[in-house]
Amino acid sequence: MSFEDSLQSTMSSTCSFLFFSFTFLFSIFSLLIYISRIKPWCNCNTCKSYLTMNWSKNFTNLCDYYTHLLQNSRTGTIHIHVLANTITSNPQNVEHILKTNFNNYPKGKPFSAILGDLLGRGIFNADGDSWKFQRKMASLELGSVAIRSYAMELVTEEIKTRLIPIIATNIENNETCLDLQDILRRFSFDNICKFSFGLDPCCLVPSLPVSNLANAFDLASKLSAERAMTASPLIWKMKRFFNVGSEKKLRESIKVVNDLTNEMIKQRREIGFDSRNDLLSRFMGSLNVNDDEYLRDIVVSFLLAGRDTIASALTGFFILLSKNPNVEAKIRVELDRVMDPVHECATFEQTREMHYVTAAIYESMRLFPPIQFDSKYAIEDDVLPDGTLVRKGSRVTYHPYAMGRMEKIWGPDCLEFKPERWLKDGVFVPKCPFKYPVFQAGLRVCLGKELAIVEMKSVVAALVRRFDVRVVEPNRDIRFAPGLTATFRGGLPIKVYERTYNAKI
Ligand code: HEM
Repeated sequence: MSFEDSLQSTMSSTCSFLFFSFTFLFSIFSLLIYISRIKPWCNCNTCKSYLTMNWSKNFTNLCDYYTHLLQNSRTGTIHIHVLANTITSNPQNVEHILKTNFNNYPKGKPFSAILGDLLGRGIFNADGDSWKFQRKMASLELGSVAIRSYAMELVTEEIKTRLIPIIATNIENNETCLDLQDILRRFSFDNICKFSFGLDPCCLVPSLPVSNLANAFDLASKLSAERAMTASPLIWKMKRFFNVGSEKKLRESIKVVNDLTNEMIKQRREIGFDSRNDLLSRFMGSLNVNDDEYLRDIVVSFLLAGRDTIASALTGFFILLSKNPNVEAKIRVELDRVMDPVHECATFEQTREMHYVTAAIYESMRLFPPIQFDSKYAIEDDVLPDGTLVRKGSRVTYHPYAMGRMEKIWGPDCLEFKPERWLKDGVFVPKCPFKYPVFQAGLRVCLGKELAIVEMKSVVAALVRRFDVRVVEPNRDIRFAPGLTATFRGGLPIKVYERTYNAKI
């Protein structure tokens, strides 16, 4: 070996050594910064209780523990130091985060990293210009009359041909129970797939089949949500790097979702999209982009947004209805007045006349919001209206579940299910969205809110008018399964009877 060769080899070994040493030291340094930020040693009662799970001795769900802490906080705001998380139930703070100082509170990198593999650059996971662009385009599409009547057509068809027949089978076969949560998840998956892709996955047909797309999508969203629960993001990032355990399963399920959605986009390009009303076709028509991956990301966000939220909201509604027969009776009086006696489903115009049903739906989501909490990350140091200091880079969470249970916001009867609180002279009157951020509020308010409410009203109208839907164990403790959307552990076992007619309320 010549002198030059040996010099070159020594230099390259030295460079590699320096590079790896630097990377190693930098990783250790980042880890120390991360640890110092999250204060894993914090000894305050709240953090101790969080870390040791001591809270579970007194509360069934973590959200109930947070609710208790927030109810007892003077400002309605608490800190979980070990998570560097400020949690608030104070409507003024919520308005500040979601509207007044919106630019300081994006979803942030930690959130987009968690959902990034599944949602890519889709609206649910985007910030800045990419979010603005998709928001503008999606608001235009979702606001159009054509897409609204298309959505109503799909929902009515699914109720008539699938939901009602499946629920009705339980009347004859009353020995067994139906899991209403499972049925509603299948129902909403069929609807959101037809609406987003123009594809019918047929999840709610009598054999209750397993759909590859639904299963892969469920697993992918569950495993993505579990990333948020690991003690440090480094753990799931390492697992992802080595492609092991839950990260391996996540990668596989995302691949199934991506392959199926890519295939749909390819087919749509071949057969044309001009005369179709589903979101994918409309975006393909208006966007004029050839980036199929971007198109896929945009539409997959809608699957996530519109799937479990509606099923969760309706499950919570039927739980509350089963404990409040007086509300059921009043709903029926309204439905009998507004709906056509010979038709099973309500028309769009009829849903607009249902003030009491609308109030009952809003009231049920006050107590059981499908998205129980939502977090943002502060870009700069800030002070919230209640005086709370928010450090740059830390997490800030608003908590609709706790907010629905605050006496300060809803009065001493806040735990009661009372649709009347939403009515004035029999007319539904919405509340301040920062007191009720069930659909978020401010600049990033849910884009599917109106569609969701109409879909829910249609289901309630069809089921409550015709059937007595009875929850099998109405007084069972409510337990939530961890995930992005509130899911009731153990499902919702019900029995169904033909409606008994109430003589008088
Ligand atoms: C009861 C049903 C629903 C509830 C409670 C709900 C609630 C929410 C909430 C809390 C957010 C904010 C999430 C976040 O930023 O992290 C959101 C965003 C969004 N929702 Fe909904 N949603 C529902 C149904 C739907 C449906 C059916 C669709 C679509 C057809 C939809 C489309 C969206 C979209 C696109 C966003 C993102 C908006 C943005 O980031 O600018 N949602 N929704």
